[in-house]
Amino acid sequence: MQGGSPGGAGTGGLSVAVLGASGYVGGELLRLLAAHPAVGTLRAFSESNTDRPWSAVHPALLHAAGGTFEAPDVRGAAVWADVLFLALPHGRSQRLAADIEAAGARLVIDTAADFRVRDATLVEEFYGPHACPEQLPAWRYGLADVAGARLAGARRIAAPGCFATATLLALYPLARAGTLAEPAACFAVTGSSGSGAEPKRTTHHPVRAHSFFGYSLGGHRHEAEVAEQLRGWTGDPAATCSLLTHSAPLVRGIHATLRARLREPLGDPLGLLRDAYAGRPFVRVLDAPPELAAVVGTNFVHLHAASRDGGREVVMLSAIDNLVKGAAGQAIQAMNLALGLAETAGLEFGGLYPC
Ligand SMILES: NC(=O)c1ccc[n+]([C@@H]2O[C@H](COP(=O)([O-])OP(=O)(O)OC[C@H]3O[C@@H](n4cnc5c(N)ncnc54)[C@H](OP(=O)(O)O)[C@@H]3O)[C@@H](O)[C@H]2O)c1
Repeated sequence: MQGGSPGGAGTGGLSVAVLGASGYVGGELLRLLAAHPAVGTLRAFSESNTDRPWSAVHPALLHAAGGTFEAPDVRGAAVWADVLFLALPHGRSQRLAADIEAAGARLVIDTAADFRVRDATLVEEFYGPHACPEQLPAWRYGLADVAGARLAGARRIAAPGCFATATLLALYPLARAGTLAEPAACFAVTGSSGSGAEPKRTTHHPVRAHSFFGYSLGGHRHEAEVAEQLRGWTGDPAATCSLLTHSAPLVRGIHATLRARLREPLGDPLGLLRDAYAGRPFVRVLDAPPELAAVVGTNFVHLHAASRDGGREVVMLSAIDNLVKGAAGQAIQAMNLALGLAETAGLEFGGLYPC
């Protein structure tokens, strides 16, 4: 991989650009793409850190043959790149979409929520007015562990949200089996990196380090994408799942506990999970509840399930790293699938334990 230079042509490998590269997801994209075997040249664009070395913002990238952040040039990046990653705050991607399309961008993968939901009514309900609702149907939802080879050839991919990823990977086996009896509820906990690099009161160390609190309990935005996927899987236009979101004194990770009532008693919930994810390389079904620390830094999801009430109720546990499986790693997995590369390319690494 060659970093930070537009002279990628002829070096072999993919030309890859990241916009919003100084943020947490941008940094994680650079970390993973710098080691990806199919990436030839990697360019990082940053408004707030133009001309600074990558490692000035992401000190853990000191080892990478990275360059300096370039001033954002959306059209130029879209023309140059084989793959353009967007790692910008919500609302920015939809305002850049016209330039990206005019430049004839090839593969674009957005890590924000701008294009995750196709139903314009749901978008309006959860996010307010959209700048280009006519483009929503052109985007594919990149839940890579479920979509798999169906992402082959995709050109516009919206990477799922972190809470949505943890929740949907637990819900999918139940939805696929047609066994959900009523709206499910998911109690989910996130670390502070889920809020991005910009300091906020609730991510400030003295406030967060020894505390625990709920938020968005009236309806978290990720419920829109969860509902849309669930409706597609079940065929039930009213299917939904409440997200009960909490902040924990962690930096990375999402731990989700899903509770669902079932139509028919389910005797072997672990078997249901194993059947649903047979052959999927990044899904591990454990015999015991997952530990968050075991997935931190990785692209894996660890799942576990238990039956209650004679099998009429099931509890599913799901643990992911919000910045890897919940953002950059899943986005790269989607890139691999879209381009027909090995699905696991650049993502076959373990975590840090303890971390
Ligand atoms: N953090 C997570 O766990 C996570 C998980 C899944 C999805 N996401 C989504 O991925 C996207 C990036 O998230 P993040 O956590 O990396 O956020 P972040 O750390 O705040 O980074 C966002 C980057 O966007 C750029 N930017 C451009 N205009 C901006 C503005 N007006 N205000 C602030 N930043 C601006 C900045 O990069 P430059 O100055 O370098 O251009 C900034 O570093 C978001 O849409 C987020 O919802 C995040």
